[in-house]
Amino acid sequence: MDRIKIVGGHKLNGLIPISGAKNAALPLMIASLLTDDRLTLKNVPNLADVNLLSRILRNHGVDLAVDGKRATPSAYIGETFHLTARDIVDTTAPYEMVSRMRASFWVLGPLIARMGRARVSLPGGCAIGTRPVDLHLEGLKALGAEIEIDAGYVIAKAPNGLVGNRITFPKVSVGATHNVLMAATLAKGETLIENAAREPEVGDVAECLVKMGVEIEGIGTSTLKIQGADRLEGAVHSVVPDRIETGTFAFAVAATGGDVILEGARREHLQAALDALGRTGTKVESVANGLRVSRNGAAISPVSVETQPFPGFPTDLQAQMMALVTRASGTSVIRETIFENRFMHVQELARLGADIHLHGDTATVNGVKKLRGAPVMATDLRASVSLVIAALMAEGETVINRVYHLDRGFERLEEKLTRCGAEVSRTSEA
Ligand code: UD1
Repeated sequence: MDRIKIVGGHKLNGLIPISGAKNAALPLMIASLLTDDRLTLKNVPNLADVNLLSRILRNHGVDLAVDGKRATPSAYIGETFHLTARDIVDTTAPYEMVSRMRASFWVLGPLIARMGRARVSLPGGCAIGTRPVDLHLEGLKALGAEIEIDAGYVIAKAPNGLVGNRITFPKVSVGATHNVLMAATLAKGETLIENAAREPEVGDVAECLVKMGVEIEGIGTSTLKIQGADRLEGAVHSVVPDRIETGTFAFAVAATGGDVILEGARREHLQAALDALGRTGTKVESVANGLRVSRNGAAISPVSVETQPFPGFPTDLQAQMMALVTRASGTSVIRETIFENRFMHVQELARLGADIHLHGDTATVNGVKKLRGAPVMATDLRASVSLVIAALMAEGETVINRVYHLDRGFERLEEKLTRCGAEVSRTSEA
């Protein structure tokens, strides 16, 4: 099992190219199920989750060819995927696969829309709370799907096809929005999704669906109006840059001090996080090729945030924010409103010397003068990268175990940090 060793105390300086967004690449790949034509996706990040979804889609019968490999080992050009779902040979998504990656549950909408039937495993437990799928199922039922749960599987049928409807989500869900949006593209007539997620990754998928021939109004807003089509066409689409990777590196620079250009970053996709970063005393400027983040020797000011659906402060940056303010010159309060139990990083940060108190959904972080390196355990994707940020600030050596969590969502993390002056290395053990 791989471990990452970090020797803290080095400032970050240089340029970090931002990869394509994992959370957009996954649903975009799934959208290939909606057409028998070829969908070409550019700027796909090379991540464990992308590789797992590739296997799941191949299992359904999607023909997947990858080209456009990096020109040189150090150039960060995403891969180009050609996906063709000419014949869907299997409408079952098995437990062994869906339980390893929640987003694979999103094949449900496209499969039922195109094939009139699907059998998809319930995703099962998850390290960051119960994460139900009721909103996905209610949305698909509203489009006419008959759904039952049997032996841990969702069995969905729509022998005469789906029919457009008006769906008002009682709660904002990224996954349920993706699932229903994709299903609605092949439903008869118009679908109105109210209280849709506005995350940029939803917008990216909607833009791609428009290229595939669907009429969609309201992209980027919480009301999406979709005119179903008889069939979708192929398209070429480039995956949007990863705002969570962008925010993570921005927080890392704030943590260590230094001056880094985040190449390709889009400010409008993480304004709330950048505002919070600004309040810590970190400078963020827009430059021609992305964002420039810098902090000189000044202290980190404490800052309080509450996670919210987009355009609020993203839950996927909560752990990184907490790592940063462990060294602030005062007390910060961080409230997690999206996922219960998304504080697995707290006890690991405490091993480095952080002073954090948890009360329900709120963490109170009293800044400390220094962190000291220690062995720690990665627990989930975003929690593990918060340990990387803390380790970069800590004195001495930190060893992070179970880094497969990081590989699910961060492409070439060690390389990107090392090129900016960090001391990061990976060791593999049999
Ligand atoms: C997606 C992101 C994840 C991010 C999350 C919130 C991907 C691959 N994952 O996850 O990185 O942290 O959005 O921005 O894009 N809920 C229900 N019923 C449902 C569905 C969700 O109650 O049927 C609840 C969840 O438990 C949670 C909230 O709604 O409390 C938001 O979850 P959701 O937006 O659906 O998260 P994901 O799509 O799973």
